[in-house]
Amino acid sequence: LCGYGQPRNAKKISTDLFGIFFEDINYAADGGLYAELVQNRSFEYSPTERREWHPLSFWEYVNPGYSYGYVYVQTQDPLHSNNPTYVVIDVEHVGKEAGYTGLSGVGLKNQGFAGMVVKAGEQYNFSMFSRLLSKEPITLSITLQNPQGEILAENTLTISTSSWTKLDVPLIAKASHDTASLTVLATTKGKFALDVVSLFPKNTFKNRPNGLRPDLAQVIADLKPRFVRFPGGCLVHGDGLGNMYRWKQTVGPIEQRKEQRNLWGYHQTGGLGYFEYFQFCEDIGAKPVPVVPAAVSCQNSGGTWRIGGTGQKALPLDEMQEYIQEILDLIEWANGPATSKWGAVRAAAGHPEPFNLEYLAIGNEEKITPEFEQRFRMIYEAVKAKHPEITLIGTSGPFHSGEDFDKGWQFANELKVPIVDEHYYTDPKWYLSNHYRYDAYDRSKGKVYLGEYASWGSKLYNAIAEAAYMIGLERNGDVVVMSSYAPLLGKMGFTQWNPDLIYFDNKNIYPTINYYVQQLFSTNAGDYYVPDVVALNRRDSVMVASCVYDSKTGDAIIKLANAGKENKKVKIDLSAFKNIQPVAARTVITGNEDDENKFGLPSKIAPVTDSYKVARKFDYEVPAMSFVLIRIKTK
Ligand code: AHR
Repeated sequence: LCGYGQPRNAKKISTDLFGIFFEDINYAADGGLYAELVQNRSFEYSPTERREWHPLSFWEYVNPGYSYGYVYVQTQDPLHSNNPTYVVIDVEHVGKEAGYTGLSGVGLKNQGFAGMVVKAGEQYNFSMFSRLLSKEPITLSITLQNPQGEILAENTLTISTSSWTKLDVPLIAKASHDTASLTVLATTKGKFALDVVSLFPKNTFKNRPNGLRPDLAQVIADLKPRFVRFPGGCLVHGDGLGNMYRWKQTVGPIEQRKEQRNLWGYHQTGGLGYFEYFQFCEDIGAKPVPVVPAAVSCQNSGGTWRIGGTGQKALPLDEMQEYIQEILDLIEWANGPATSKWGAVRAAAGHPEPFNLEYLAIGNEEKITPEFEQRFRMIYEAVKAKHPEITLIGTSGPFHSGEDFDKGWQFANELKVPIVDEHYYTDPKWYLSNHYRYDAYDRSKGKVYLGEYASWGSKLYNAIAEAAYMIGLERNGDVVVMSSYAPLLGKMGFTQWNPDLIYFDNKNIYPTINYYVQQLFSTNAGDYYVPDVVALNRRDSVMVASCVYDSKTGDAIIKLANAGKENKKVKIDLSAFKNIQPVAARTVITGNEDDENKFGLPSKIAPVTDSYKVARKFDYEVPAMSFVLIRIKTK
């Protein structure tokens, strides 16, 4: 123990207990964390069950100054086979009417994801791929405009090559607007092909190219998660085999990544792909936990309800070896030397050092059917044999109790899967009356990753119920080794799933009270659980308490959740610790049970910290409907 003396009766608990789960749901990636401002940049949009999208969705034909021409979609000789669709702009006439002083030409306008936020003085990096299809070079005007057509930023480009070429220019905004748009306008006659039209703020999180929206990345980083599970959820297995998330299609230059309709009814560019996920994990000091499909489709359905769904439930067995190799390649890509085949792909993207992958999850909420078992076993055994250093995470299936759930655990235990992923979304009352769920788990079997959970709501009562449950996770931190709330992000007006931990729009971020609870747990985690510090009935479903010890700092951390309508008096006994320092730091979240951090009132409830005098033994009155955290120095 590298600390200040292990407290009496302390039990070692997981140091990876509190992490996050990022899924591309609710526009969390494109239109969210991924800083790209152009929507449908590669003209790859296609119809979804919910929307009649097509390659020109979110693009508008513009021809100011009485100009005319054509814009049409093409697929012949594309930029890359993964990116088959592009647009041709054919300018027949550029208007030059007397007295007209504005721009003239033919082109396309993109409003982004419900408008682009442009800030005066900031730089935006525009880029596109083009190919000249006529003789003379063509001049383009690139502008950011407000809805009235006033120019916020401008620059020009010339297309002069007949093969696909990347062109880029910076745009410096001279004024701000929250619903700006981008216009690409050919101002001279001619014909050209256009693809991957991109606009990024220069300022991305940690200034990474192809990077992330800095404020949103920061609010996630502030959770100080020990790990990030990604990219899903149901997104991973997709809702048909063709819709499975294949990691290789999401690395390399963005113009070579494969875009597709997203299981959640929108579109994913893969711009936020495996490299960006791993880079983000490294930037925020979290361990990456990628989830690969278990080679079966969403709950073995075959995705018959989706466009193109074939009803095929599982990868044919004769394709399994190739698929397993894809997973082994992922490990080489993440951890192999830059001289290895896949390590070289990582190095080419700018990361010669390995990413030190420790965990890999196989599957998400699959029904435990013979098809699943057969394929999971094949993947699991192959990865385990080749990479015993990687800790594999399996699944208990879509339920959190009952026959199917037991079947999931039985199968996992038969294979000796080290960690099994459980998911549940339910009533806050359930969390309060089940916080002892893991007290009875068999310690000799697989450990638990509570990969997805949330109580139904964002009110204070929900947050306190979750705090009580997380106290139960700490108490069982020897068997529950990881946990993550879900979903993490929800874009206002674009959600498919509520509640979410962090709401946002193009400009603002609204952390829920639940967010603050998650943050307090992860920034006040311990590596030892110390029993009996707070005298309580273990099955009390209103008042729940824990004490952990952080051996790095020598701090004892008491957590008290009171989900009741009355204050509760508790007795605290710190006799297990030596050298208790009298002045502790206390943080409290409290209010009315229905309080919520609404969009108009984003910080109604937030944690408040002060100092508080403690003694070896003291009484504490926990306010009604509150979560209290007391951090005590013991060195
Ligand atoms: O978190 C939202 C969804 O809930 C996940 O994609 C899935 O795993 C679960 O059903």
